[in-house]
Amino acid sequence: MNHSPERITLRQPDDWHLHLRDGDMLNVTVMNTARVFRRAVVMPNLTVPITTVEAAVSYRKRILDSTPVGMAFTPLMTAYITSNLCPEVLEKGFRNGVFIAAKLYPANSTTNSAQGVSDLRSIDSLLETMESIGMPLLIHGEVVDRDVDVFDREVVFIERHLVPLLVRFPRLKVVLEHITTEQAVEFVDTSSSKIAATITPHHLHINRNAMFDGGLRSDFFCLPVAKRERHRLALRKAATSGKACFFLGTDSAPHLRAFKESSCGCAGIFNSPYALESYAEVFEQEGALDRLEAFASEYGPVFYGLPLNEQSVTLIKQNQVVPDFVEVLRNEQTSEKLVPFHAGETLRWTLLMGPNK
Ligand code: DOR
Ligand code: ZN
Repeated sequence: MNHSPERITLRQPDDWHLHLRDGDMLNVTVMNTARVFRRAVVMPNLTVPITTVEAAVSYRKRILDSTPVGMAFTPLMTAYITSNLCPEVLEKGFRNGVFIAAKLYPANSTTNSAQGVSDLRSIDSLLETMESIGMPLLIHGEVVDRDVDVFDREVVFIERHLVPLLVRFPRLKVVLEHITTEQAVEFVDTSSSKIAATITPHHLHINRNAMFDGGLRSDFFCLPVAKRERHRLALRKAATSGKACFFLGTDSAPHLRAFKESSCGCAGIFNSPYALESYAEVFEQEGALDRLEAFASEYGPVFYGLPLNEQSVTLIKQNQVVPDFVEVLRNEQTSEKLVPFHAGETLRWTLLMGPNK
């Protein structure tokens, strides 16, 4: 990595946690990710979740068909774990190179998670297979019990479910996705090298006040929900620590503006259009620009056992104003809007278009 006060060139990064959606949305989501990321781990929580190898292959094709000509992008597919899923499906998909990992959503914890898992013990046979073949388990780490405060969901999940699960499966590779608390940082930091965590740009930038700044601000609502300032500071410290157990995963999760603004607004922040620029700002503020490359482009592939990317990307120190909306074309006549993270703000770094050869 090469950086001066005015310019950073780094190995091309990957996004280790991403929602691309499907249908009309794909043209926008894929382009906004492929502009900078070489690979991405694609979440399986479509309206009809990805629970078979065939469904993953067909979804991967739709993603590749939506990738702009001239952009090299590899979607890494995941399986959606249900209590009915057979270990053989996971094993076949993993061995064939279709599934890179499987995703665990506690039932009703977030978008399209109704078919997720209510009783973790019901998937022990899946976890046993995954542990034995080295297939990573990606976890949405929140309990959904009504008597647990929304802001405590992650911490309670770790204590009640993750710790016992790792006692049962000590060799299982686990990514605790989109961590939001100092307790999650501490847990991952002090666990074995088989346990890692992704950290999103939004959890590095905002605390829970952002959701209530002058009114109810649904653009800042995501799950796990942003927490107190002290947790944001712990996440910034972890991301910029240079520790290999913390790496980039945007959790970019677009929902059309109308769905975000309804009386029961959807959880998710669409951050991919300026994701690397957003992370760069945090690393610069923390005086850690020299650690951005490892976080964005090295620790993820090392954890997953994949080669590092060969190409590089360059950010220059140039202000840019983030637009209020990104359009999704429905057909020739109509379009709908997505609100990108940082809408209306000025970011200090700008990506020079396209990866360098
Ligand atoms: O905010 C979120 N949005 N968190 C998730 O876990 C899922 C995601 C989505 O798919 O909308
Ligand atoms: Zn997600």
